Amino acid sequence: MAILVCGGAGYIGSHVNKALNRRGYETVIFDNLVYGHREAVKWGNFVLGDLKNPNDINGVFEKYHIEAVMHFAAYAYVGESVVDPEKYYFNNVANTLNLLHAMRTHGCNKIIFSSTCATYGEPERVPITEDMPQKPINPYGASKLMIERILNDYDAAYGLKHVILRYFNAAGADPEGEIGENHNPETHLIPLVLDAAAGKRSDIKVFGTDYDTRDGSCIRDYIHVNDLADAHIRALRHLELGGESDYFNLGNTCGTSVLEVIDSVKRVTGRDFKVGYVPRRPGDPAMLVGSSDKARLVLGWEPKFADIDTIVKHAWKWHEKHLG
Ligand SMILES: NC(=O)c1ccc[n+]([C@@H]2O[C@H](COP(=O)([O-])OP(=O)(O)OC[C@H]3O[C@@H](n4cnc5c(N)ncnc54)[C@H](O)[C@@H]3O)[C@@H](O)[C@H]2O)c1
Repeated sequence: MAILVCGGAGYIGSHVNKALNRRGYETVIFDNLVYGHREAVKWGNFVLGDLKNPNDINGVFEKYHIEAVMHFAAYAYVGESVVDPEKYYFNNVANTLNLLHAMRTHGCNKIIFSSTCATYGEPERVPITEDMPQKPINPYGASKLMIERILNDYDAAYGLKHVILRYFNAAGADPEGEIGENHNPETHLIPLVLDAAAGKRSDIKVFGTDYDTRDGSCIRDYIHVNDLADAHIRALRHLELGGESDYFNLGNTCGTSVLEVIDSVKRVTGRDFKVGYVPRRPGDPAMLVGSSDKARLVLGWEPKFADIDTIVKHAWKWHEKHLG
């Protein structure tokens, strides 16, 4: 029996793949390498394939005995999803239907799905709890919410069990330095600030310092990628033990401001760099912080690397060696 890690050559999937192998699971990594990296697949069996091709994904189920699926494969650039929504609905929604169909055809009835805090849109209050309305404000968030709804229908009609994990901002890297974050293009704050520390960018821009927050810059909830990996293993155990379908926020509950991230990078790397202060970007909420009480209660999950300096330290260890 193996776990299928769709999109396992990407950032989060490669860390979860390592965690699964460390815990003795056999894994099959399925990725088209459009954004993933072959060298990030250091564990398990790699299959090059695209979810848009039913033959590719059916071939995996024919060759391996798949117990459960972890589904990371998607496009995740919010801005791009606004200018080219079709790209997002095809890949994130239609191609996921191919995966679900292959699962049904081959009698696999457990899936753990990578959803996002972007399904909540602009929250009425923080910290965001799972019962708050989901009103995405861009096609990326909408595409993830569509799959959440589809998974509910597939459970009711076909008994296909799911755990939906709504990540906040994934960050950090494997503490052992074997894998890390390598998006191209990169839009996430911590690797961009690390680029500035490494001298690969001339400066880092802070969009807005007049928000109603403790230091005027936006606050986001950074969650260490290894803590995400641990939550996936717990979600898998939940389904293996016959648990019902469920959904959880994965965040740290405490947020970190843009200026605090910059300070942390300067502290951890010991390097100074130019910081530019520019006006707010439209559509950036002041504060996005998630409550993960439910994941703690039901899955017994406890983030181990909540401190921002630890997250930055692990990210820097990998970044300096591989991208610096
Ligand atoms: N990184 C974050 O902070 C964050 C936050 C919330 C949710 N998420 C979600 O988590 C998941 C993983 O994010 P990530 O940062 O690791 O992204 P990533 O781009 O590094 O990984 C996604 C992987 O999926 C592969 N892929 C995409 N479409 C595919 C297809 N049709 N067939 C086969 N492989 C395909 C890509 O090549 C890539 O390796 C995504 O679904 C994303 O929406 C990420």
